[in-house]
Amino acid sequence: MILQDMIGSIVLAGVSLVGLIFLVVISQAGKPADEAASRKAAHSAGVFQAWLFVVLLVGFVGGSWATLRSLPIPVQTADLGADQVVEVLGGMWYWVLTPDTVPAGSLIEFRVTSADVNHGFGIYGPEGHLLTQTQAMPEYTNRLLYTFDQPGTYTVHCLEYCGIGHAPMKTTFQVTATGGN
Ligand code: CUA
Repeated sequence: MILQDMIGSIVLAGVSLVGLIFLVVISQAGKPADEAASRKAAHSAGVFQAWLFVVLLVGFVGGSWATLRSLPIPVQTADLGADQVVEVLGGMWYWVLTPDTVPAGSLIEFRVTSADVNHGFGIYGPEGHLLTQTQAMPEYTNRLLYTFDQPGTYTVHCLEYCGIGHAPMKTTFQVTATGGN
């Protein structure tokens, strides 16, 4: 299962759980309380809160570590040691990739800049999932490293609102099988 679909399912499960808790709370509301039972309930709620806090804390720290450990943004000043460099120019409203064909399995460095305003350079795979992205900024070059696993037709979409032509601001490029062209 693709990571984005997996995260989508986890979010859906979490939202459903919250909804279920709401339904339980609503169904319990309005019932008469007796003192011993409500003291017991308050104690259980306290224990539950303490456990919930621990679980959320561990989840937050663990999740942050797991997802931020490998920052996808390479060092911008050093030689990145890429196999091939692709110059990327974004403008209102077009993309120019030079060259527009790259081999699969090679480390590609995209040098991304803009001719006018800020654009968002987002690369989508043949299945339509966002793979990687960076900003296309005027008078500045952002460097993005990526290795394509599969040959195919990849699409670039603009991910930063840049005027009336923002939505159709896209292009495609080819990833060829290793050694082919
Ligand atoms: Cu370019 Cu939005």
